Amino acid sequence: MSQMINIALPKGRLGERVYGIFEAAGRGCPAVLEDSRKLFFEDEASRVRYFLAKPSDTHIYVERGAADIGVTGKDILLEYNPDVYELMDLGVGVCRVVVAAKKNFEDETDGALRVATKFANIARGYYDGRGREIDIIKLSGSIELAPMVGLSDVIVDIVETGRTLIDNGMEPMQTITDVSARLIANKVSYRFKHAEITALCEAIRRSMAK
Ligand code: PRP
Repeated sequence: MSQMINIALPKGRLGERVYGIFEAAGRGCPAVLEDSRKLFFEDEASRVRYFLAKPSDTHIYVERGAADIGVTGKDILLEYNPDVYELMDLGVGVCRVVVAAKKNFEDETDGALRVATKFANIARGYYDGRGREIDIIKLSGSIELAPMVGLSDVIVDIVETGRTLIDNGMEPMQTITDVSARLIANKVSYRFKHAEITALCEAIRRSMAK
């Protein structure tokens, strides 16, 4: 019998879409969709265990081997550069990492540009490449608030529909990169559960191609 695969899924809206991809690939575990606070699920027949982790944490479960594979955003991979294999673009959770500011903002300051963000490394890389001195203000959420209340000049953040920017009187200025959900694998698991992981990837590819 094939080995069980431990899969770290992002909790929430993206997780439900991603679970749908695994289910369509024959790795269903219906309890995942039940309305409960459970975070750990197992389906003997499908040979899978699902862990529901905070979206910004799934790569930690995979990098450390608690999960064999998992799903994370390309933004997280760029920011934290975890030691994992990136196996596949799942084509969901498509968004952009942008620089945004209050409408009509002009970068005319002589000193460091104040940049509020969850993505300190992405922001630093972007502005280093332009030779612009910045002061990073690391926040964990509601980044759009920062320029509105004078905490920062600009933000570097994720934009999906653009609604949060519009509702807060802001606009995107530059796109740094396009991002989407990626299937990642622990490097040791990829060797020792190679048959299981590659069969799952193939099943996902086939089902996505339908
Ligand atoms: C993300 C992101 C933006 C928002 C963009 O926040 O940081 O705030 O979504 O989406 P939109 O373009 O569709 O409006 P998230 O919902 O993850 O919450 P957070 O503010 O706590 O990070």
